[in-house]
Amino acid sequence: MLTLAEKPLAELEVVDVRGYLASQENKTLLRFLTCGSVDDGKSTLIGRLLYDTKLIFEDQLAALERDSRRHGTTGEGIDLALLVDGLEAEREQGITIDVAYRFFATPRRKFIVADTPGHEQYTRNMATGASTADLAVVLVDARKGVLEQTRRHSIIASLLGIRHIVLAVNKIDLVGFDEEVFRRIAADYEAFAKNVGFATIQPIPLSARHGDNVTAVSENTPWYTGPSLIEHLETVDVESEAAAQPFRFPVQYVNRPNPDFRGFAGTIASGAISVNDEVVVAKSGKRTRVKRIVTYDGDLETAVAGQAVTLLLADEVEVSRGNMLVAPEAQPHVADQFAANVVWFGEQPLLPGRTYLLRTETDEVSATVSHLKHRLNVGNLAREAAKCLELNEVGVCNFSLQAPIAFDPFAQNRTTGSFILIDRLTNATVGAGMILHPLRRAENIYWQALDVTKASRAALKHQKPAVLWFTGLSGSGKSTIANLLEKRLHAAGRHTYILDGDNVRHGLNRDLGFTEEDRVENIRRVAEVARLMADAGLIVLVSFISPFRAERRMARDLMNEGEFVEVFVDTPFEECAKRDPKGLYARAMKGEIKNFTGVDSPYEVPEEPDVHLRTVGRSPVELADELERWLRERGYC
Ligand code: ADX
Repeated sequence: MLTLAEKPLAELEVVDVRGYLASQENKTLLRFLTCGSVDDGKSTLIGRLLYDTKLIFEDQLAALERDSRRHGTTGEGIDLALLVDGLEAEREQGITIDVAYRFFATPRRKFIVADTPGHEQYTRNMATGASTADLAVVLVDARKGVLEQTRRHSIIASLLGIRHIVLAVNKIDLVGFDEEVFRRIAADYEAFAKNVGFATIQPIPLSARHGDNVTAVSENTPWYTGPSLIEHLETVDVESEAAAQPFRFPVQYVNRPNPDFRGFAGTIASGAISVNDEVVVAKSGKRTRVKRIVTYDGDLETAVAGQAVTLLLADEVEVSRGNMLVAPEAQPHVADQFAANVVWFGEQPLLPGRTYLLRTETDEVSATVSHLKHRLNVGNLAREAAKCLELNEVGVCNFSLQAPIAFDPFAQNRTTGSFILIDRLTNATVGAGMILHPLRRAENIYWQALDVTKASRAALKHQKPAVLWFTGLSGSGKSTIANLLEKRLHAAGRHTYILDGDNVRHGLNRDLGFTEEDRVENIRRVAEVARLMADAGLIVLVSFISPFRAERRMARDLMNEGEFVEVFVDTPFEECAKRDPKGLYARAMKGEIKNFTGVDSPYEVPEEPDVHLRTVGRSPVELADELERWLRERGYC
């Protein structure tokens, strides 16, 4: 709706163009976000800021007046929230549905504000809005005071690196501009926030609807001696410290148009760099010097944080995308295990042991939570024991990565210390992470090179190692078919082993039950064991329900290409319940067994199994024949 760049451009026709552009360029930029509960007036406040800083066209105003009569909640006046809640759908529902960025400017500063809605998906929206913001305006309804939601949003803002808070005590007109109310709310908030660690907190009594203390100090609050909101936003000192920090240059891509030119392109995350400066390749420790700093507008002698440049190096060193060029005297950590704060916004819970894609500024690697240390109660900052993180929950996790990455603690560098987590099946962004510190254990463990290899072990057995992964409901026939197949392979002189769910749960996994978390860990362990056995040169038959796609995919990814064969033993629930070899279905349906697969715990059907065995009406021998034929035709046995 509001095309924000247009107003200044329109003005250009009547004002001095060059002067205007120069004045805009020299202004500093403040990025902030607004948060609070649904009805605290965020959209109205942003509308008020845009309105009062005169960024609205006459025709938009006319449309707004029309809309206010149709949808507005303010009676006769203009409903400023409508200015911001642009989408028709939002108006119909009366809530704001996604993060929206608005731009406005005053003579002293430029502003980008993220309007983050406060309902169900608030952590996702806040993480989106906060990733580059310096300040948060936390709105509180003067009639309600500091609520659970106020505390939650503040703690999450702090985790996301926000150091400055404006406590906007809104709707002060509705409590008769009462100083006492304002003081009490401010004191309440400060008592809570002193343990959160913000650099500044500025409480301001205001009325977004009527404009009190928004752009000018209001006569209605003579007892308030602080700045108006705009005044504070214009002057709060959030100048980036990025330029003063050690040099960090995450490599976005390698630019190699011809054999004589090899440049590393990216944006300087922190610090400064000059031609001839020494740099280190973070992951390899190789040292070299900067030969040239290339930009679209010609070469530079020096470049600083925030600038996008291409660096040419004095020596031919290996630097691929995801690596970092860094200052030799202050290098980042390079590790494959670390602890991090996680803000979770996946619809499915975060489960330790499950594999996610971890993406930093330029790097991407598979990662699992090896240990969920605690969940943070975002109402009162208490640390709570937890097995998983649900939507909007926050916790401290140990991560284990498939390969090392280069990083800094988030407290030192917001760019090189943060990451997002991506669900590998849906590609949805499900969490944001802020790194605390590397795990020492990772630094002290090295990969031991051994002389007898997988290939030589397999050659001695005259076979190709493989993992035949049987998945299906309890009682579907997995173990029966696996057993028949193993007998045949064995008779043919093959070296095999069966990992069977019930059996492994008697030993290695006897500590695990049937909750989602435990099943994920069950499969993680058995997949690791299967990998070791394949490494030993064996043909491994794994017979586990393994109900989740994510873990079957994880198991596949652990093995070499072509080594993993997913065998779906497809027996419908009704048939398994009828066979009920162990009497478990009968008990589960009576409610005597909890979390039973197919009853009150899900089974995610394989979408593309390598072998699909439909068992109904066929004998185990026929099914074993079919499988054996499939394996033989493809050289597995
Ligand atoms: S998995 O889901 O974690 O892969 P696994 O294959 O190890 O399960 O174990 C399944 C076996 O445990 C079943 O064959 C059944 O004998 C037994 N069992 C006991 N309780 C349950 C339950 N709640 N759900 C499924 N199987 C159960």
